[in-house]
Order: sequence, then structure tokens, then C-alpha cells
Amino acid sequence: MVESLHRPTRIIVHNEAIRQNIKHEIERMPQGRELFAVVKANGYGHGAVATAKAAISGGAAGFCVATVDEGIELREAGFTEPIVILGVVEVADLSLVAEWQLAFPVASRQWLQKARAYLAEISVAAPLAVHLKVDSGMGRIGFRSKQEVLAALAEIDAEAQMNFEGIFTHFATADEADTAYYDEQNHRFNEILQALPRMPRYVHVSNSATALWHDQPVGNMIRFGVALYGLNPSGHALAESYPLIPALELVSRLVQVKYLEAGEGIGYGETYITEQGEWIGTVPIGYADGWIRKMQGFKVLVAGQFCEIVGRVCMDQIMIRLPKEFAEGTPVTLIGKNGGQEITLQDVADQQETIHYEAACLLSSRIPREYTD
Ligand SMILES: Cc1ncc(COP(=O)(O)O)c(C=O)c1O
Repeated sequence: MVESLHRPTRIIVHNEAIRQNIKHEIERMPQGRELFAVVKANGYGHGAVATAKAAISGGAAGFCVATVDEGIELREAGFTEPIVILGVVEVADLSLVAEWQLAFPVASRQWLQKARAYLAEISVAAPLAVHLKVDSGMGRIGFRSKQEVLAALAEIDAEAQMNFEGIFTHFATADEADTAYYDEQNHRFNEILQALPRMPRYVHVSNSATALWHDQPVGNMIRFGVALYGLNPSGHALAESYPLIPALELVSRLVQVKYLEAGEGIGYGETYITEQGEWIGTVPIGYADGWIRKMQGFKVLVAGQFCEIVGRVCMDQIMIRLPKEFAEGTPVTLIGKNGGQEITLQDVADQQETIHYEAACLLSSRIPREYTD
């Protein structure tokens, strides 16, 4: 989708917020631990390359992405720091990950056998950096048992074109008050770790929630994602360990303002009828921008006042009820602060009955991203 520069709807990302969130975490980390910024999914909707730049200036030592292409995007932008792909890589793409020097997980024996068969046919410039993925209880990708991990490691060691660079796991409930399942996963991973004949360069278990709420889990690297964008990984469940600073604002302007008498219909399906004479404003954002139809009935901020979204959300526009006449061109805040009031990504997620991760990722590539220092 083409970026729509010629309309007033913008995402504004505050680089300083990203830097501060990262610096704060680094100050708390034990000596010798490194922070890798998770910038997958276009930096959780914030823009991958710009977020990565801000993360490095805040002290991040590397990056995590989900796909090969996300890794290549960072390399093409000039980043030379380590990059770890977190998802399963297609065997046929191994020469590509070698070319771009991307580390990636080995998560099953079947995959490893296919990879070795593929590597027998090609030669890579430098050994591929692999991270063994342990499924300690997420049920997603990775080895379940110590035996499987040791067998995979033996195969990796027998493969001259692979280098055992890391081992990692991912917690399913690190953002919950009840730590029983977290403790169980931690225990399973540590048992596997203790059985290893040697430690790789990177051992990593912590996502944001683990880093914020769990003392001293193992590892010399953390995969710091949503918290670097200033968002509480638990939503409402747990209090932030330190104040996270939200990095993203979503703003627009009124493109039309009209007075309608009582009894006039607004939007498709005429789901809202003016109750009295009302000022109605139109804002150029809609479900094609990720401002989905569930946002009907939510609010935006105009001159510090909450204004309801009335009628159905259209593909490209919404209508809002204004408390009085405003000039066309008046700023509208959809996420962020305006006149002493604030709408957060968490508020948006609550309205959408989802999590802020999803609400942020939904903000589509049609909305231009701008960055402030
Ligand atoms: C394997 C893995 N590590 C780290 C993260 C980062 O998690 P968070 O954004 O909660 O810090 C994710 C996010 O989905 C992930 O899948």
C-alpha cells in the first residue's frame, strides 16, 4: 500500500522515548548482559529502521526480527550489529541468510536434516550462526526435551557450515501475576542448559515482561520488545517496574466541519442519528489505516476535549461529534496527548477488545511515520 503523504494523518514516533525506555532497562541489567531490540513487524508498527536507529543510540547491542526480509531491511539500512531471526527460516533461504549474516533458530530435527542436505550442495562464506530454540512450554517452535537438544547440538557440531551461537526459550506467562507456569518453564530450560557440553555466545530467555518482572533469569542477552515502545507488556495486569514512555502518537486534522439539524443520519447504515442540532467533523482515517470498525463509539481529542466517533467507521474516514464549531484544519489526536488529556494505545486496544501489540501492528503502512528527537 502506498504511503499517503498528501493528507494530514500521521504517526509521530518520539525517538527520545525509545532511547529512554532502553536506557532505563540497561541501567537495571546485571553486568555483562546485552539488550537486543525487537523490531519485528515494522517495529511493532513504529517503523523498523527508525526504531532500530533510536534503539542503538539508547544502547541496544543487536536486533531481533521475525523474518528473513525484516533482517535484510535492517542490513540494507546499514546496520552491522548482530540480528537474530526468531521465526523458522525456509531451508531454501539459507544462502540468503548467510549472505546477509543473519542468525536464526534451529527448532526441529527434521528441519536440521533438510538444512544439512541443502548445505551439502552449497558453500557459505562463513558458518551460519544458529540459535537452538527450546520449547519449554510455549508449544510453538523448538525442542521439547534435553535428549532432542543434545542430539541437535551434536548434528550442528558435525556440520562445518553451522556455528552454535545461541540457545533460547520464550515464556508464555511472564506478564502474569501467577508465576507457577513461568517457574516451570524456567526450570525446564535450566535443566537443558545444565546438560549442555558448552555454552554458546548467547543465552537468551527474557522478553520485556521477563525483564521487567522476574529477577535474574539466566541469560546474557534480553529480547526487549514492547517495553521499548513504552507499552506495558501486561496491559493492565501488572504495574510497570519503572515509568515507560509511550513513543507513538497518531494525529490528523478535521477536513470538514458541518452543522446538522436533529434527526440526520451519519455514515453507512445510518447507525447514528443526530439527537439535536450537532457539529459533526470528518477526520481522514478509516479501517484501511487500521482504525477498525470497532472504533465506532470510541473518542478522539480535539482541543483537549473528548469527541465521540459517531456512525460507522468508513474505509478512509470517520465522523466525530464536536462540542462546538471548529475550523477545518483543527488538529485531532487519536493516540497521544492533547490539551492536558490523553488517549493511549492501551485505551485503543481496550476498545478493540485486544492487546496494544495488535492495535499498534494494525496501523497500516498507508499512514506516514514521522520521527522527532
Ligand atoms: C521469541 C520472542 N522473543 C521476544 C519477543 C518480544 O516480546 P515483547 O514484545 O513482549 O518484549 C517476542 C514477541 O513476540 C517473541 O516472539
